[in-house]
Amino acid sequence: MSSDLITHVVVPGTFDPVTYGHLDVIRRTRRLFPRVTVAVAASVNKHGRGTAFTLDERVEMIRDALELEGLPPDIEVMPFTGLLVNFCKELGAGGVVKGLRAMTDFEYELQQADLNSHLAPDIESIFVMSSPQYGYVSSSIVREIASMGSDVSILVPANVDERLREHFR
Ligand code: PNS
Repeated sequence: MSSDLITHVVVPGTFDPVTYGHLDVIRRTRRLFPRVTVAVAASVNKHGRGTAFTLDERVEMIRDALELEGLPPDIEVMPFTGLLVNFCKELGAGGVVKGLRAMTDFEYELQQADLNSHLAPDIESIFVMSSPQYGYVSSSIVREIASMGSDVSILVPANVDERLREHFR
């Protein structure tokens, strides 16, 4: 088991699309670690369905949102395919950071963390509690509200709001 200090972590997700909740986790992770890579999964989402936005669109939306919201410019955004732990190893990242909202997130996240730990014991799973104002925000809720033509501008950055309006027009 490695005892090296972790300086580079990955914040993975489907980001379909990125929300203020995700940006909050990314911002706080960057306060904890000097190097942060946001890893955008090419695969289907956790419910086994395809994504609303393509991989390229999801990557671009995060990059634009990070700039728009004034996050540190050294935060990288990269797409990945295959196993998350393999992507971490390729980058030399020592940990995976995820946001935890309600208890409902916990079981799913614990299962993934256990699996990742089994596959790659040296890669740490680290959790950041979501800020209370974003506890109810999720990409699926954002898509559902936007698909009904309602306003999601308090849940997502302006560039994502615009893309959602185009998508559901
Ligand atoms: O935003 P999400 O849907 O919670 O992100 C889930 C994600 C993409 C982090 C997870 O599904 C993942 O790591 N996928 C890559 C494939 C993998 O490594 N699977 C084993 C761990 S579940």
